[in-house]
Amino acid sequence: MSEPHSDALVFFGATGDLAYKKIFPSLQAMVKRGHLDVPVIGVAKAGWNLEQLKARARDSLEKHGGGVDRAAFDRLSQLLRYVDGDYSDPTTFGALRKELGAAQRPAHYLAIPPALFGTVIEQLAQAGCTRGARVIVEKPFGHSLESARALNKILLGTFDEQRIFRIDHYLGKRPVHNLVFFRFTNAFLEPLWSNKYVKSVQITMAEDFGIQGRGAFYDQMGTIRDVIQNHLFQVLANIAMEPPARIDSESMRDEKVKVLKSILPLGAKDLVRGQFAGYRKEPGLAAESQIETFAALRLEIDSWRWSGVPFFIRSGKCLPVTCTEVVVRLRHPPKIFPAVSTPPNYVRFRINPDVAIALIATVMDASDTMVGEPIELLASRHPGADEINAYERVLGDAMAGDAMLFAREDYVEEAWRIVDPVLQERTPVYEYAPGTWGPPQVETALVPPGGWHNPSLVE
Ligand code: BG6
Repeated sequence: MSEPHSDALVFFGATGDLAYKKIFPSLQAMVKRGHLDVPVIGVAKAGWNLEQLKARARDSLEKHGGGVDRAAFDRLSQLLRYVDGDYSDPTTFGALRKELGAAQRPAHYLAIPPALFGTVIEQLAQAGCTRGARVIVEKPFGHSLESARALNKILLGTFDEQRIFRIDHYLGKRPVHNLVFFRFTNAFLEPLWSNKYVKSVQITMAEDFGIQGRGAFYDQMGTIRDVIQNHLFQVLANIAMEPPARIDSESMRDEKVKVLKSILPLGAKDLVRGQFAGYRKEPGLAAESQIETFAALRLEIDSWRWSGVPFFIRSGKCLPVTCTEVVVRLRHPPKIFPAVSTPPNYVRFRINPDVAIALIATVMDASDTMVGEPIELLASRHPGADEINAYERVLGDAMAGDAMLFAREDYVEEAWRIVDPVLQERTPVYEYAPGTWGPPQVETALVPPGGWHNPSLVE
């Protein structure tokens, strides 16, 4: 049964960084595609007016949205409204109620710090803005298991789970979704996809830039909270999940939760944290900050399919390249050609910046002397530049009431359960030089069988 579409989009944090970098470009793209034709009401406390918000939107599109599309931008400008005011002041919400006019089913998008969720939701409810409404919340969803539970309690006090959309924009990336699609639409992968043939799995999300002026935010987070507990666990779940009973949001999300339920909490010996040299000089940071800008970890999914297969996850800022890639290494076959010594077969999924799926096999090299040579069988590749923007996809889906690409309450809490204990432990943070693959300790303490596969952009 199809859900009714939201008939207004309200976004809190309209003058903030996320709106500037991601939301305005997505809104223009949605209008252009004919997916957005309802009032869009920005809310913030900046002392601005509507004209200033429109100017900000234009600037955002020029700098981050691939330019202003005249027709789409004109239409977006007609749809835009602005409410300025404090989030704890009922007058702000009275003004919002007025702007909502006849809208019956608004979607409230909280692109604001989680500490403000409670206040905003309470005010929305008091002003009569929550009936028939949906709420969309930004990641990170909490800071720990306890805080995530507290946030869920706040949200569930006003909205039932079907009306809560927890954004993880990685889920809006087509190549992330395609991991599931590719796995379950091809017969050849399934027989290999278990501890019988898979030796190890690596997921790397590397970024060649630093924290880009987000010091105050980042220093509360670190890599594990910023991208591993959410984005990379979602990638992991897509790689490891069982086929869903049906293709609907609950069946899909049930399978993902099952993956997380089979993972034991991380231990200190399964984690190496690093911080790039120079991080502490960034503005807004504690001089002795122990926050990680790099993390590598090993975990095991203790399920029938995966028991005994180590999964490695690694991410960091200021690494040599910007690239997200999954490498699933298969076991070596028994050796019957003595001279042949080549890397094991593996399956490689590249998610960013280009999109590729490849299988690595061994053939006899040209010398005709039984020497093996690895070759890559490219199953699919495209530049990635034409991908529909992840925010556009998730905002559109939330407004259409499709929860498939959103994190469910139990999923978020399971993800925190896995990382929480080790985050409390404050394990050592080792320094690494910008432009390297993290601290040298990774190469001694946490090495996948056959070594780390460092993605390269030259292929
Ligand atoms: C965000 C993190 O959620 O994802 C950032 O806060 C990270 O630190 C970003 O850089 C990566 O996402 P994308 O889509 O820009 O590759």
